[in-house]
Amino acid sequence: MNNQPVYQDYVNAAEAIRQKTNHQPKIALVLGSGLNQLADEVENADIISSGDIPGWPGSTVEGHHGRLVFGDLNGTSVLVLQGRTHFYEGTDLAWITLPVRVMHLLGVEILIVTNAAGGINRAYTEGDLMLIKDHINLPGMAGNNPLRGANLEEFGPRFPDMTHGYDADLRAMVHKTSSETGVDIQEGVYACVSGPSFETPAELRFLSAVGADAVGMSTAHSVIVANHCGMRVLGISTITNVTNIDPQSEDVTNHEEVLEVGKLVVPKLAKLLRAIVKNI
Ligand code: HPA
Repeated sequence: MNNQPVYQDYVNAAEAIRQKTNHQPKIALVLGSGLNQLADEVENADIISSGDIPGWPGSTVEGHHGRLVFGDLNGTSVLVLQGRTHFYEGTDLAWITLPVRVMHLLGVEILIVTNAAGGINRAYTEGDLMLIKDHINLPGMAGNNPLRGANLEEFGPRFPDMTHGYDADLRAMVHKTSSETGVDIQEGVYACVSGPSFETPAELRFLSAVGADAVGMSTAHSVIVANHCGMRVLGISTITNVTNIDPQSEDVTNHEEVLEVGKLVVPKLAKLLRAIVKNI
């Protein structure tokens, strides 16, 4: 694998998918850690293993099955992506984000990203949902932006704007849908870190001071690439743990807890997402 995919790599992946399904969804939904069960809600499903798509990144992490599920969610055509690859696994971000551009080539216009995140805002509790209104991409600010390297003009400009990274109309629709369904949702800023170690108390105090409400190890990379190619983005974090800013505390954060709480949140997240895809 080269450091960076070339245009033909995206085309080849899109072709391989087109040969396996006739579904042509305009909405894609990326499932985060512990949220895989949501894909079971999809009807008339064509399921493709990510290993059958050339160039598609694989995942080595428990709770991140690599599958593409094309079908209908609450009567709306969708593509559900189970399992994402994370930067901490070692692959370059340009390959990690290849699925976003492939989805664009397949005709997807709206990307809904979900993730597991640690709550930084002290008003948040375990099991809360948070609509992402903006992000702080720490790996990107430190040189690991997914668009680093040659710009592929076929997808977008060299210097894409990120003022409207998380589409305001879609966010307004989510608030309306939240009232209609009775599924409460917070709104806040997501800080992306590379992981895999969880944050130290000092790092958490830093993230809080710069305005982050939640922290996680994914999402910002895909959101940048999606914005670059003109997709509209909606992001929802599930708060799987309240982060620990007290160095004296006995509490520790672990991946098992993240997966456990992720599973408990699935029913209400599924209820909200079913209504969201209908309301788009
Ligand atoms: N930190 C970073 N990533 C996470 C966390 C966290 O506390 N919880 C779930 N993903």
